[in-house]
Amino acid sequence: MEFRHLGRSGLMVSEISYGNWITHGSQVEEDAAKECVKAALDEGITTFDTADVYAGTRAEEVLGRALKGVRRESLEIFTKVYWPTGPGPNDRGLSRKHITESIHGSLRRLQTDYVDLYQAHRFDHETPLEETLKTFDDLVRQGKVLYVGVSEWSAEQIAAALKIADEMGFDRLVSNQPQYSMLWRVIEAEVVPLCEKEGLGQIVWSPIAQGVLTGKYLPGQPPPAGSRATDPSGSNFISRMLTDDVLARVQELKPIASDLGLTMAQLAVAWVLQNPNVSSAIVGATKPEQVRDNVKASGVKLDAEVMKKIDDVLGPIVERDPAKTVSPPKRP
Ligand SMILES: NC(=O)c1ccc[n+]([C@@H]2O[C@H](COP(=O)([O-])OP(=O)(O)OC[C@H]3O[C@@H](n4cnc5c(N)ncnc54)[C@H](OP(=O)(O)O)[C@@H]3O)[C@@H](O)[C@H]2O)c1
Repeated sequence: MEFRHLGRSGLMVSEISYGNWITHGSQVEEDAAKECVKAALDEGITTFDTADVYAGTRAEEVLGRALKGVRRESLEIFTKVYWPTGPGPNDRGLSRKHITESIHGSLRRLQTDYVDLYQAHRFDHETPLEETLKTFDDLVRQGKVLYVGVSEWSAEQIAAALKIADEMGFDRLVSNQPQYSMLWRVIEAEVVPLCEKEGLGQIVWSPIAQGVLTGKYLPGQPPPAGSRATDPSGSNFISRMLTDDVLARVQELKPIASDLGLTMAQLAVAWVLQNPNVSSAIVGATKPEQVRDNVKASGVKLDAEVMKKIDDVLGPIVERDPAKTVSPPKRP
């Protein structure tokens, strides 16, 4: 496993991280979740990503149990705040009240005194940015959070936060967590150039497009049994990519992967890691063998000719519109 700096910070992260959205506390039983975490640790993954909202807070509990007994200094644990964790108007968003209450819940569930990175899961249009950033800064000063970052913020929102942090002397954002894959490149036009200039790294989610880029979903056929597309908690999220046009073009990537001696999943993960602004690719897994497959993408170099072949195959199905980076206009 190779390591990269998280943006311009001193923190090193494994260039492949393990994330537990949809899986822990939901799609997979706890034993399988623990086996996946064990496989991740065995393969040299040190960076783990979760969120307060995943599986209605159960995902953090499962991860906390799965990592119990592992030397804390050998791990980077990331979590997030914003989406609802309870029924009340203050159980969501990025107010001082919710952030403060949510971090305490996350630390309890993860069974740790601090998280390495705390991320604003979306932009909250209903809370002054100063309030959020001051609260994050307080958590850093209290030692409950070591670094702060955001997820799915636009370039304009990140720039506004950096300006306030610099004016007020608050801890600066070190990272953004966007969706990024061969199929979804909306960060390339605006977010990546800003983050390169300002020293934020991308921790990218769904690099395998939730399984689509493995090529296991075939055009005109039902999804394979047990896959995310058949799971009640996951099928909503993956369904928009399961069109015959997308699936047929993904099949055409198979010769490119096999010529390189890579599996399709490895090609997909290696592809995001070619972008130097990417600090880590977060992969999900329902089975330990998927983790073992995906980690082999670490250190793989793809030359310009391969990158061009991929572009030519995917052509118009690639989403590049920066306006697709959006947070809900009102809190959910
Ligand atoms: N910040 C955000 O808003 C946000 C949003 C979403 C995710 N995330 C983070 O990103 C992480 C990863 O997201 P993701 O789970 O969508 O990523 P992904 O790695 O693109 O997809 C993971 C899923 O693909 C399938 N898969 C993975 N490797 C495979 C392999 N080698 N062979 C066959 N199937 C394979 C598995 O599903 P099946 O076995 O069920 O098919 C697995 O659960 C999350 O856990 C979370 O930490 C963040």
